Amino acid sequence: MKTTKWNFAWAISFGLLVVIQACNQDTVNTSSLYVPTNDDVTSTATLDELQQGRDLYINYCGDCHKLYTPESYSVAQWQNIVPDMARKTNLTSAETELVLKYVTKGNS
Ligand code: HEC
Repeated sequence: MKTTKWNFAWAISFGLLVVIQACNQDTVNTSSLYVPTNDDVTSTATLDELQQGRDLYINYCGDCHKLYTPESYSVAQWQNIVPDMARKTNLTSAETELVLKYVTKGNS
């Protein structure tokens, strides 16, 4: 009887561990995306715009593939990629601009 109880406890613990692990993978994805601070503000991007851009990027750009980190591409590359990819979403052109500001850290 005692052993059965222990086996049950182990099974539950293992199950929980698997679930926690699975959830972690999502958070790892977004935690590698910089959170804008005042240091990222440029003459073309306010803190508010960068924060909105990050939210839009996370909500619209990770449906079909993993979220690429902003550091993965140059400003020039993002300027080609973002408008191209935005066509696959229902982002407005103003929202697309915010995503571009976020991934280029206000340097587009
Ligand atoms: C409907 C699905 C879909 C959505 C939504 C989507 N993508 Fe993509 N993305 C793709 C596919 C398919 C590819 C690979 C083929 C290609 O380059 O078209 C890709 C490739 C990419 C690449 C790699 C390009 C390269 O040349 O290395 C980047 C970066 C990217 N997407 C960014 C984004 C961004 C930013 C958004 C949000 C605005 C977004 N994606 C939304 C389907 C999508």
